Amino acid sequence: MLVAASEVAGFAKTGGLADVAAALPRALAKRGNLTAVVMPLYNSVRRSGMPIERTRFVLPVPMGDRVLACRVYRSHLPNTDVPVFLIEHKPFFERDDPAAGRGLYQAQGAGGGKEDYWDNGERFVFFSRSVLELIPHLGFPPDVIHANDWQTGLVPVFLNELYHLSPGYQRIRSVFTIHNIAYQGSYPRSLMNVTGLSPALYNPGQLEHYGFNLLKSGVVFADAVNTVSPTYAREIQTAEFGCGLEGLLSGVHWKLTGIVNGCDYEQWSPAHDRFIAAPYTPETVFERKPLCKADLQRRFGLAEDPAAPVLGVVARLVAQKGIDIVLSAARGFLDLGCQLVVLGDGDREYHDQLRALRDRNPTRVGVYLGFNEGLAHAIEAGSDLFLMPSRYEPCGLNQMYSLKYGTPPVVRMTGGLADTVVNATVENLADGRATGFTFGEYSAHALYETVRWALTLLRERPKDFRQIVRTAMAQDWSWDRSAEAYERLYLKIIG
Ligand code: ADP
Ligand code: GLC
Repeated sequence: MLVAASEVAGFAKTGGLADVAAALPRALAKRGNLTAVVMPLYNSVRRSGMPIERTRFVLPVPMGDRVLACRVYRSHLPNTDVPVFLIEHKPFFERDDPAAGRGLYQAQGAGGGKEDYWDNGERFVFFSRSVLELIPHLGFPPDVIHANDWQTGLVPVFLNELYHLSPGYQRIRSVFTIHNIAYQGSYPRSLMNVTGLSPALYNPGQLEHYGFNLLKSGVVFADAVNTVSPTYAREIQTAEFGCGLEGLLSGVHWKLTGIVNGCDYEQWSPAHDRFIAAPYTPETVFERKPLCKADLQRRFGLAEDPAAPVLGVVARLVAQKGIDIVLSAARGFLDLGCQLVVLGDGDREYHDQLRALRDRNPTRVGVYLGFNEGLAHAIEAGSDLFLMPSRYEPCGLNQMYSLKYGTPPVVRMTGGLADTVVNATVENLADGRATGFTFGEYSAHALYETVRWALTLLRERPKDFRQIVRTAMAQDWSWDRSAEAYERLYLKIIG
């Protein structure tokens, strides 16, 4: 198994894709599969502190009428012997620098907002092609290449069109996972010129969708396609969620499945979390979680008030995550006596509005704009409720973390949120099944009312609230189960 991804937690990360690309291979290897991972060698990788070693392999990567060379480096997923191959090509991949506003895919533009790098198309055509060139050097013949999101959408295409007749490639099959259909990697037709693919493939049944669409390309050419929850697999076949590809996706429903992500409990367990003030278990949660809350309040300079419910948010600050309705409902939350802490990085309008909200309410609103791993853990542990009112959510990992941390999530019923959180209705409470709070309508009002109901339980029915915390902490969304589902998928296509 070779997992190809544009980010891998521990090495470089912007969101949940990185968590999946680190945890799934680890789980697959644990189950006895020969597994390797490949990703670009960014600056972040060099700065990550992970030991990296230069190999003797230099891959020739054809890009149109040129052949670019790239050196392969090697590392390991922490505490495993799963190799992580790192594709070095400085001009494409070593430009990220958070201090200068440059990320993995985007940089701060002249206007202050984030803009995609102008050559992202070329960068990830190059990366995808290097994945195929790496195969002979893996040290084992993979039976499946597992590509993820638009950045690796061309991997199945290259495999089928350019490599499948070559020795060592004939038996390889491909899986393509859609983590987020809103990001499709859509480029002008001219990008075809660097791919070495036949121009005949550029047609609406294959690579074309109002331009050269890398995500669509992966969907069309992969032997199996999946997304990261059953509900999202259904949703993306509708106009509301399919971002224009719903027709294609319902046309390939025979090879489309949904597999919920797992949660990496080695990284995310309150019992042994080096980032939190007072690690706790289901037995000690009610004594020790308040210490984490006080620590969180201190870190954000909030009033250290045990009675003020803390609402936590950790998210990429983009339209997907429902930040606009959090902002609209914020006044209402404060009037209910809550505090709000937000950790995120993203669109400038949200940065500005969040900063303004904090400046008006410095002792009750905490905001950290940027990426901060430790703080993400502290918020999961120290909040009373975790807000995730996403417009859409392919799977979502943060709600799974908050379940494990006994911080009931307040989520909108969509995608993986619908598949992982059990709403605290009167019946579910009576059955002891409730793990959080859900709502349907995308509005500040619906979010507000749901938080209000959660606070009613927290303040007036503490027995019920504690039951929710205990049930949430007992949920098991470990990777092993999801890895087994992926194994079944791989087996199906390799026959
Ligand atoms: P998405 O992949 O859409 O961003 P997920 O919930 O699947 O959403 O995963 C987000 C991951 O990124 C989680 O591990 C979360 O803790 C992390 N994360 C997001 N923003 C930040 C941030 N600003 N600082 C630290 N971690 C973050
Ligand atoms: C995407 C989705 C998120 C999912 C993650 C990992 O970024 O937005 O819902 O959990 O990928 O699959």
